[in-house]
Amino acid sequence: MRICVFGASGGIGSALCSRLAQDERVARIYAGSRRPIAPESDKTSPFSFDLHDEDTIAAAAREIFREGPLDIVIVATGILQTEDIRPERTWRALEAADMAHMFAVNTIGPALIAKHTLPLLRREGRAVFAALSAKVGSIEDNRIGGWHSYRASKAALNQLIRNFAIELQRSNRDAIAVALHPGTVDTALSKPFQRGLPAGQLTTPQACADNLLQVLGGLGPEDSGQLFGWDGQRIPF
Ligand SMILES: NC(=O)c1ccc[n+]([C@@H]2O[C@H](COP(=O)([O-])OP(=O)(O)OC[C@H]3O[C@@H](n4cnc5c(N)ncnc54)[C@H](OP(=O)(O)O)[C@@H]3O)[C@@H](O)[C@H]2O)c1
Repeated sequence: MRICVFGASGGIGSALCSRLAQDERVARIYAGSRRPIAPESDKTSPFSFDLHDEDTIAAAAREIFREGPLDIVIVATGILQTEDIRPERTWRALEAADMAHMFAVNTIGPALIAKHTLPLLRREGRAVFAALSAKVGSIEDNRIGGWHSYRASKAALNQLIRNFAIELQRSNRDAIAVALHPGTVDTALSKPFQRGLPAGQLTTPQACADNLLQVLGGLGPEDSGQLFGWDGQRIPF
């Protein structure tokens, strides 16, 4: 299999690349990150891209396609907060520029990755596009509110995944596009929010990678266009 991971420098993205490097069925891993990373194994090909710069995504896709079609694309990028932006607890905290930044990274960036990589997926047989989303992006599951921009950016991502799944099926009936919720994972993204978590709720990036790869391995075309949790359970949009 030939697999491309966007966000290979992240907690979950790097664990996914490590696990894939150990898998004998995987022949090539294209590991994309904003900052250069050292290749994990001799089957890892690093590349750079920035979600804010579509040309970098298009150029990476062109290079990768030169070597043939892909079996799996995983988008493991995303932000919950930055040095300047905190998740909003109330509508009073909404700032247009901060919302735009959250959507640029969590929604528009993955959509542009889809634009340039969905055509790289193999046209016959199983092919998978998976984007890391979040359960808090589920509108139906939202009971406590808050985190307005993050939730909304992931809900919008989920909607795009459904759209892409419908479009993708027209060119390959066996192709799958899904959103994935990784659980609460011990990474830089979750670090500021880990206090007070119930015991056992925090997963290591390695365990998360194993869970997500197992879920991906079990998906069929009938699952396309949905959001799945780390445990394989479907989460309503
Ligand atoms: N950790 C959790 O508990 C949890 C829970 C639910 C959902 N998720 C989702 O899982 C995904 C991965 O999260 P994580 O926990 O692995 O976070 P992380 O360790 O902070 O990794 C985030 C990744 O996104 C990349 N990124 C951010 N902005 C970028 C940009 N402009 N261009 C290119 N890459 C960019 C980062 O690159 P740099 O290293 O260059 O910044 C990094 O590789 C996210 O979508 C997140 O919403 C995580």
